[in-house]
Amino acid sequence: MSGTQIESILTEARTFPVPEEFARQANMDQAQYEALCRQAAENPAEFWGKLARDHLHWDKPFNQVLDDSQAPFYKWFSDGELNVSVNCLDRHLDSPTRNKAAIIWESEQGEVVTLTYAQLHREVSRFAATLQDLGIHLGDRVAIYMPMVPEAVIAMLACARIGAIHTVVFGGFSAEALKDRIEDTQARLLITADGGYRAGKVVPLKHNADQALSRSSHAVEHMIVFQRTGEEVNMQSGRDLWWHDLAAKAQVDCAPLAVNAEHPLLILYTSGSTGKPKGIVHSSGGYLLWSLLTTHWVFDLKPTDVYWCTADIGWITGHSYVVYGPLALGATVFMYEGAPTYPDAGRFWDMIEHHRVNVFYTAPTAIRALMKLGDEWPNRYDLSSLRLLGTVGEPINPEAWMWYYKVIGKERCPIADTWWQTETGGHMISPLPGVTPLKPGSCTRPLPGIFPDIVDEEGEIIQSTEAGGYLVMTRPWPGMLRTVWGDEARYIENYWAKFNNRFYVAGDSAHRDMDGYYWIMGRIDDVLNVSGHRLGTMEIESALVAHPAVAEAAVVGRPHEIKGEAICAFVVLRQSHAGEDMDALAQTLRAHVADAIGPIARPDEIRFTDNLPKTRSGKIMRRLLRAIARGEEITQDTSTLENEETVRQLER
Ligand code: WTA
Repeated sequence: MSGTQIESILTEARTFPVPEEFARQANMDQAQYEALCRQAAENPAEFWGKLARDHLHWDKPFNQVLDDSQAPFYKWFSDGELNVSVNCLDRHLDSPTRNKAAIIWESEQGEVVTLTYAQLHREVSRFAATLQDLGIHLGDRVAIYMPMVPEAVIAMLACARIGAIHTVVFGGFSAEALKDRIEDTQARLLITADGGYRAGKVVPLKHNADQALSRSSHAVEHMIVFQRTGEEVNMQSGRDLWWHDLAAKAQVDCAPLAVNAEHPLLILYTSGSTGKPKGIVHSSGGYLLWSLLTTHWVFDLKPTDVYWCTADIGWITGHSYVVYGPLALGATVFMYEGAPTYPDAGRFWDMIEHHRVNVFYTAPTAIRALMKLGDEWPNRYDLSSLRLLGTVGEPINPEAWMWYYKVIGKERCPIADTWWQTETGGHMISPLPGVTPLKPGSCTRPLPGIFPDIVDEEGEIIQSTEAGGYLVMTRPWPGMLRTVWGDEARYIENYWAKFNNRFYVAGDSAHRDMDGYYWIMGRIDDVLNVSGHRLGTMEIESALVAHPAVAEAAVVGRPHEIKGEAICAFVVLRQSHAGEDMDALAQTLRAHVADAIGPIARPDEIRFTDNLPKTRSGKIMRRLLRAIARGEEITQDTSTLENEETVRQLER
């Protein structure tokens, strides 16, 4: 750092022009882009109002576009009413889209199931009727803990149809994480499966769900269990119901309920630097509009495209870009159940060849992992159907970008490096394939209607084109989070308070180059980004401390070739465990964290220490631990440390 600006260490000189062929056919060309940007800047109400009217079906049209009377609690289209499932399904039924594939699903074993829009509509209606029969109403929370099967999408859309608020919990999360989310949302219903397949093994979802409920202080009334694996599970009579039994009894029709545009569609939990994960609340109208528009603009989807986003529905990427954006557009979504390298490293490429996938969206961590397995895998397959690639989740290293561009895209396919967050609902800064020349490693420029800026430590906007510092948004947008579930104070504190509520503070640092291109440099706080997923150090530390051997723990990240960041935990043992076999204990603790949070949070390394370096006010000096974990020389001033000798001990 020099002064208050954050400097970028990347100096990337390569640029890739927009392929002419692409510019000619793109959903958005240069002239449209410029016109939209101009309109958004000059007359935001007209800009957003027109988009919302043109692209969504409203049961009751809105008059007011933006209500900022209680900013930063912004409201969009708030006197309008719509139904999200109608926008994703019913409105396609009067057109040829009716009989087009909405979802093409491939199981890990290679079985393929296709659901047309008409079929998906029927299944969603049937399941929505089931939910209604169980007494689920407008505003009730429904937790969904499912594998990647079409029924997960059906469950989400069925909630939307009756105005229930879904909270999807990633199937890779443990019982503990599920319990926290059920408690925080006070969900009335849990939808799960007996299990899910991952890398040839069964993930025991029902078993985890049982554990979560037995520990939860809040009782759900029912648990609906989808039968995926056929493994024996324990069904608690009265509470647990089989999906297929309910489906056999349910009516096929369920009239959609028009809800206010501001009615919460979903809650999705994401990590922050302190405390428990935050329940990010997204609206029905604004969120749907933004996921739809960005899918249309950034992925340039055409009616004939087969589109594949590899994200699990447990993450925001799965919500916006497997479910809501593409279905609202009437696109064909390819969906895959299992692990990327099962049964071998060619699995992704095999499915791209087989299903003739045109647009492919994945994460840098997957790209790096697949890159490492060698070019011979993708080279064995015909990837000529691909026309556009995308990436999300963390900064992509220019070399991984080049590999993706050359070996997968054969230098023909633009890459959309999309910067956004759970909180933003959809893409914010991203190239448009028909408009934006590319630079490997940069998410390039903001989308129309999005106004990022870079501010210094004092909250001053840096006026020069070239700048480094905190990434902020200076204007609201429809896809933005509305609040943190049950905790308005936390919404303000986390996203607005740092600079007196003047900007939305993303929590990332960024660099803007001479061309106005953005380069994201990572999180400013202590949040880790492991394989493209945000993990709070706090959660992992709490899990460690919950183990009887551990007195105190501090978790930091260090660069990892494939995962982006590896998790390094510094652990202080309780006296009673001091003499134990350290290797065995490290293994136990790693497994313990995986058990408590999920395998994704398993520490890569555990280092035992007698003390943690702390400031005099008792705060763990994570920056210092980070340097130690990375094997860097300690150049920071340690004189403010309460226990300076600890650092020497850790360095050894
Ligand atoms: C990081 C995922 C650089 C960033 C959609 C952000 C990225 C956090 C990119 C959000 C990208 C996401 N380039 N960094 N293209 N995309 N990030 O909430 O730090 O899981 O703040 O949302 O991931 O993670 P989240």
